[in-house]
Amino acid sequence: MSANKRPLAIVTGASTGIGYDLAKCCAENGFDLVVAADESAINEAAQEFRKLGVEVEAVEADLATLEGVDKLYAAAKGRPVDALLANAGHGLGHAFLDQNFEEVRHVVDTNITGTIYLIQKVGREMRARGEGRILITGSIAGFMPGSFHAVYNGSKAFIDSFSFALRNELKDAGVTVTCLMPGATETEFFERADMLDTKVGQSEKDDPAKVARDGFDAMMRGDGDIVSGWKNKLQTTLAAVTPSGVLAEQHRKMAEPGSGEK
Ligand SMILES: NC(=O)c1ccc[n+]([C@@H]2O[C@H](COP(=O)([O-])OP(=O)(O)OC[C@H]3O[C@@H](n4cnc5c(N)ncnc54)[C@H](OP(=O)(O)O)[C@@H]3O)[C@@H](O)[C@H]2O)c1
Repeated sequence: MSANKRPLAIVTGASTGIGYDLAKCCAENGFDLVVAADESAINEAAQEFRKLGVEVEAVEADLATLEGVDKLYAAAKGRPVDALLANAGHGLGHAFLDQNFEEVRHVVDTNITGTIYLIQKVGREMRARGEGRILITGSIAGFMPGSFHAVYNGSKAFIDSFSFALRNELKDAGVTVTCLMPGATETEFFERADMLDTKVGQSEKDDPAKVARDGFDAMMRGDGDIVSGWKNKLQTTLAAVTPSGVLAEQHRKMAEPGSGEK
C-alpha cells in the first residue's frame, strides 16, 4: 500500500454536485480521499473515486451535528490532512415565517456550525504542521440579502466573511484558506431547497464540474477567493455598490415561490 505517500484530502458533501466534482479533482490530482455526506449515496460516489486509482474512505454522517463531524474526523485515522474542502451545505426556500424551525436550524448547523467545527479541528492540526490548504464553499449569495432564501444567504454571508478572516489569521502559518463562491449551479441544490418553482430554480445554471475545477485550481494556487464565471463576477461587483434594499427586492424576483414559469 502506497497510501501514505499520497496527500490526503477531506471533502464534505461529496455525494453529488460541486462536492462530487471537487473530490474528483482531488483524486485526479493524486489525493487519497475521506469523503462525507449524510446519505448512503456517498458510498456509490466513493466507488467512482476509487476508479481513479486512489484510496477512498466514505463516511455517512450528518455534518450538522458535532458527533457527525467527530465521526468524519476520526475516519482520517490520525493521518495528516493536506487539503480540507469544506463544501457540504444546503438551502431552504420560502418565506422565513413559513419555514419549519427544525429545517431552518439544520441549514445553520450544516452551513455554519458543522463547517467551522470541522475547520477548527483540521485547521489546528495544519497550523501545528505549518502546512495545509483549506477550501470553503461560500457563495455569491453571501453578498446579497436573500428574500425567500434569507437564512441560507445569511449563512453564506457568514461563511464568506469567516473565510477571509481565517485566511488573514493564518497568513504566516503556512496554511492557505480559499473561499469558493459559486453562482447558481446545476446541482440538486434547488430541488432540495424546494425552489423549483422559482425564477432562479428554473434559470440556466453553471456547470458544477467547471465550478469545482475553478475552486480546486484556486485552492492549489493558494488564492483567497474565487468567484466562478464572469457573470457572477459582475454580479458581485455590482452588489458591492448597490443598496441592500435594492438587492433584497432583486432577490425576491428570483426566489419568491411561484416566480418561475408554471
Ligand atoms: N448549486 C448552487 O447554485 C450553489 C451556489 C453557491 C453555493 N453553493 C454551495 O455549494 C455547496 C454544494 O452544494 P451543491 O450545489 O453541490 O448541492 P447538492 O448537489 O445538493 O450537494 C450538497 C452536498 O452536501 C451534502 N450535505 C448537505 N447537508 C449535509 C449534512 N447535514 N451532512 C452531510 N452532508 C450534507 C449532501 O449530501 P446528502 O445528500 O447526503 O445530504 C451533498 O453531498 C453547498 O455549500 C452550497 O451551499 C451551491
